[in-house]
Amino acid sequence: PVPLWIDCDVGHDDALAIMLAAYNPHIKLLGISTVSGNTSVKNCTKNAIQVLKAAGIEGVKVYEGAAKPLVKKVFHASEYHGPNGLIGAKYLPKADYAKYFDGSCSAVNAMYNAITSSPVPISIAAIGPLTNIALLLGMYPDVVAKIKTLLIMGGSIGMGNITPAAEFNIFCDPEAAHAVLNSTLNHVVMVPLDTTGTVLASKSIVRRIKDTLPDPHFAELITGLFWHYSSEYSDISGVKDGAPVHDPAALAYIFMSELFTGKHIRVDVECNAGLCNGRTLCDFYNCTGQAPNCWVATSLDIDTFWNHMIDSLTAAAKN
Ligand code: BDR
Ligand code: CA
Repeated sequence: PVPLWIDCDVGHDDALAIMLAAYNPHIKLLGISTVSGNTSVKNCTKNAIQVLKAAGIEGVKVYEGAAKPLVKKVFHASEYHGPNGLIGAKYLPKADYAKYFDGSCSAVNAMYNAITSSPVPISIAAIGPLTNIALLLGMYPDVVAKIKTLLIMGGSIGMGNITPAAEFNIFCDPEAAHAVLNSTLNHVVMVPLDTTGTVLASKSIVRRIKDTLPDPHFAELITGLFWHYSSEYSDISGVKDGAPVHDPAALAYIFMSELFTGKHIRVDVECNAGLCNGRTLCDFYNCTGQAPNCWVATSLDIDTFWNHMIDSLTAAAKN
């Protein structure tokens, strides 16, 4: 299995990404770090702990990361994920900090320890703002040689979702995204909004999940997550057939990369203030003449994704 670290800002789709990874046979989940994004970093940490417990995930610790972006002011996505990041999630257990939280070191140092103690290069799935990853690369530049893939859910080729120009994760901390994209990492993969936005938790998918999961209590927790998020999403966006599950769709690259299409191109980030702050510029035609720094995914096999997602949720329900 691929050793994987997840850096996240636990809202609804991050929670699903954690379950997808923890129960995928091709992944060994090493740890989870949290970052300010969908909600405060404290809420993200609590949410991660509750998700691990609800899904019966053992042996994975949560480390708390950056409470604010490198330069910008803190910004949250409360209109999508509610004030606590997981609004509408029923039956979440009490957060068991003693079992799941490790406060003995920072998120950056925990990632560094995981990377340097692994016998093989590890992958990182960054499914929130890139603050922790930028800090890691800034403090420990030598880690680049031991990171196999940095998978980013973020950015967009076309439209944004938090401003007309920008996707939420990159908008929250454009300076961090700029540092990461201009680092010497060997393999950076970005799965942008345009691609994750094609993976919708439609009514029929949610019904299939409900019918498949063996534990009705757990099924209600999961479908509650999907339904609430979907109704918030459709109120805001007008998309009626379910919300996009951005983070698990992106994370699937780690174990089914061959089912994604995309291109190795130059990607930059607008850090200047103004209408385009946080926009990703994906240079598909190499207009800039600059060397590629990122593989940008333009599609994935949606049916195979859902099969894996449902397999992981079923394994979680049985645990
Ligand atoms: C991203 O923003 C967050 O709200 C989601 O969790 C996802 O990581 C989508 O733009
Ligand atoms: Ca996220």
